[in-house]
Amino acid sequence: MDKQSYWENIYQTKKPDAVSWYCPHLEKSLELIRRSAISLSAAILDVGGGASTLVDDLLKEGFHDVTVLDISAAAIETAKKRLGKQANQVTWLTADITETDLPKNRYDVWHDRAVFHFLIEPQQRMAYILQVLLAVKPGGHVHRRHVRTRRAAQMQWSRCHAL
Ligand SMILES: C[S@@+](CC[C@H](N)C(=O)[O-])C[C@H]1O[C@@H](n2cnc3c(N)ncnc32)[C@H](O)[C@@H]1O
Repeated sequence: MDKQSYWENIYQTKKPDAVSWYCPHLEKSLELIRRSAISLSAAILDVGGGASTLVDDLLKEGFHDVTVLDISAAAIETAKKRLGKQANQVTWLTADITETDLPKNRYDVWHDRAVFHFLIEPQQRMAYILQVLLAVKPGGHVHRRHVRTRRAAQMQWSRCHAL
C-alpha cells in the first residue's frame, strides 16, 4: 500500500476521535504558536494537519492566514465539514509534503505534530527539510512535535494536551 492510500484508509475507516493521536484541542501547539510572538496576520502552515482541530482554534484566536496541508483528502474533508462556512477562510492543500511545490518564503510559522517522524527514508526527510528551508520566511518559526505511541496515548488520555 502506498503512503497516500495508507492514510486515506485510516481517515475513511476511523472516526476522527478514534485515532491514537486524537486530542480535542492541541493546547501545547497553540501555546507554542502564541509564544512565537507573531501577529494575527502571520502565515501559519499546519503540515500533516489531518482532521485536527488546531485550525479551528487558530481561527478562533483571530489568525486569518492559515494553511492546512495533508496527504489525505479524506482528512481535509473531515476538517472542512466540521468548520462549515469558516472552511473558506483556510487554504487547504492535499499534497505529500516531500513532493509538493510550496511558495518560497511564505510562512511565518511551520507547525508539524507527528508527521516528520513518519518519514523513515533519508531522502524523504531531506526533502522535508528542504521544504522547511524554502517555505519558511527568514526568522520564521518551526514547531515540530512528537506524539506518543497508541498505548501510551491511551494511558495518557486525560493528559493529551501535553502530547
Ligand atoms: C499522526 S497524524 C497527525 C495529524 C495531526 N497533525 C494531529 O496532530 O492530529 C499524521 C498526519 O500526517 C499526514 N501525513 C503523513 N505523511 C504525510 C506526507 N508525506 N505529506 C503530508 N501529510 C502527511 C497524515 O495523513 C496524518 O494526517
